[in-house]
Amino acid sequence: MRLKALFVIFSLALPTCMATPVPPCNTSPLASADVAIIVPDSISCTEAAYPAECATTTRAVPYINLAFTAFSIHDFGTQAALLALILYKSASFKHNTNHYPGVPGQGTRNMQSPAFNLKYAQWLAANRTDSGLSLQQVQEAEAEGPVQVLALVNNDRWGFASAAWFLVTQCDAEIRRGLAGLTEDGWNAYLIDCVGTTVTDERTAVWKEATALRKW
Ligand SMILES: *[C@@H]1O[C@H](CO)[C@@H](O)[C@H](O)[C@H]1NC(C)=O
Repeated sequence: MRLKALFVIFSLALPTCMATPVPPCNTSPLASADVAIIVPDSISCTEAAYPAECATTTRAVPYINLAFTAFSIHDFGTQAALLALILYKSASFKHNTNHYPGVPGQGTRNMQSPAFNLKYAQWLAANRTDSGLSLQQVQEAEAEGPVQVLALVNNDRWGFASAAWFLVTQCDAEIRRGLAGLTEDGWNAYLIDCVGTTVTDERTAVWKEATALRKW
């Protein structure tokens, strides 16, 4: 009786990656200390130009772990790449809205463009009851404008999850394999062929710092 109960608890605690084909499965969650090693300036918000948008690592990390779970990202290479992307795009969690040059409706922690924020809001409304969004609400925001659409998804719970959503819904299997494989070619292909951005030394440096940890 007691053994069986223990087994149930143990199974629930295990990540579902045991059943997925992508090795290796990362069994421990990301910790604030890991992020602080990758980008030491992510610890504090005291220097933030937009304090209302800034999140410390302590605040951000639980939401990033929730995002990995929500989108079934269980291998270390993919987790590290998503973390590197959002660290870079949000200037170490200092921003969640585009300020340079200031594209209306561009934001979340991976600085998604307005068209994708609309798709994301629609996806959440249709597929995640815990988003609290309805399709009608998304339609109304869409009619008002991109800033209103961004506001629907730019909270801690979903603003830290948009990079994972984008990967899962917009990138193909080859991109996913490249990230899981922890190769620099895989990282480059992700940025160029799926995110649609350029590879820079600065971006790759963050990815290298993250992947150098080998595990959380
Ligand atoms: C809900 O999720 C499914 C599976 O990912 C997807 O095909 C569908 O487009 C989503 N719904 C919306 C409205 O985005």
